Amino acid sequence: MKKIELHLHLEGAAPPAFIRGLAAEKHADLSGVFDERGNYAYDGFEGFLRCYEAATSVLRTPRDFARLLAEVLEHSAEQGVIYTELFVSPEFCGGADLSAWRDYLAAMVEVADTASAQGIDSRAILTAIRHFGPDRARRTAVCAAETAGGWVTGFGMGGAESVGRATDYAWSFDCAREAGLGLTCHAGEWRGPESIRDALSLGCTRIGHGVRATEDPGLVRELADKAVTLEVCPGSNVALGVYPDWRSHPVARLADAGVRVTVSTDDPPFFHTTMRHEYDRLADTFAWGDTEFMQINRWAAEAVFCDPATRDRLL
Ligand code: ADE
Ligand code: ZN
Repeated sequence: MKKIELHLHLEGAAPPAFIRGLAAEKHADLSGVFDERGNYAYDGFEGFLRCYEAATSVLRTPRDFARLLAEVLEHSAEQGVIYTELFVSPEFCGGADLSAWRDYLAAMVEVADTASAQGIDSRAILTAIRHFGPDRARRTAVCAAETAGGWVTGFGMGGAESVGRATDYAWSFDCAREAGLGLTCHAGEWRGPESIRDALSLGCTRIGHGVRATEDPGLVRELADKAVTLEVCPGSNVALGVYPDWRSHPVARLADAGVRVTVSTDDPPFFHTTMRHEYDRLADTFAWGDTEFMQINRWAAEAVFCDPATRDRLL
């Protein structure tokens, strides 16, 4: 089945072998990042963020990001993905220095163009890191606004949802909106309904995760009525312990309540998942079949941040 993925972190999609290869080239010490089997090693969400940032520290040049993007898009295409939106953090690409960012972007656009000609389209959502604070988020928003259009199609925020409130970052979301970018924010993963309401108040039409909306039936109705799209990543939620197992995950309940859910992998090698694995688990756990998968892909196509002509090809 052809798939659309809306929530994939580029750095978080780096296979451990890729990061180990870069570390060897650069003589970087990544002790503690991998377990004895060579997988990413972390405990809990805070540990995950630390491991993620340590692994990302060996991505140092435009060429490193270009090589990573080529590998990630090739893997996504093998999974049947025909269109993917990638979270890319300028903070990890030359430290959100706008002149450096343009070099990183140019290198990635070249790879994205080649992949597009080979059957997988992609776009970037420039992503602020919440626990780096509002000042650094502003720099990311300026990068996004200055390079909006073409491959850069959205602005978002990930990182530790427990830090501050999303509304502390309103300047950045306003800046990105005025530049014509689509808006999404991680919310309702580590905090409850209020966090999702904050993200909606910033003008987000999509929410990263958003699954804890189920704690407030009024909010579930609002999401359904306003046609807000949730970028749901069930395997990520189970791996990080937001839910204890697939059976207790609310994705099917949200879909049944009329909320536009879509399915993505978030940071696949960290969570030992792939798009095929997510679909297989949804089929096994909730008896989802063609009807449900076609519905989530239609909802995804209707929520993409790219130009209308590309979107129409997905519908
Ligand atoms: N960055 C990468 N993955 C994330 C997640 N699941 N939540 C918040 N920030 C992230
Ligand atoms: Zn995410």
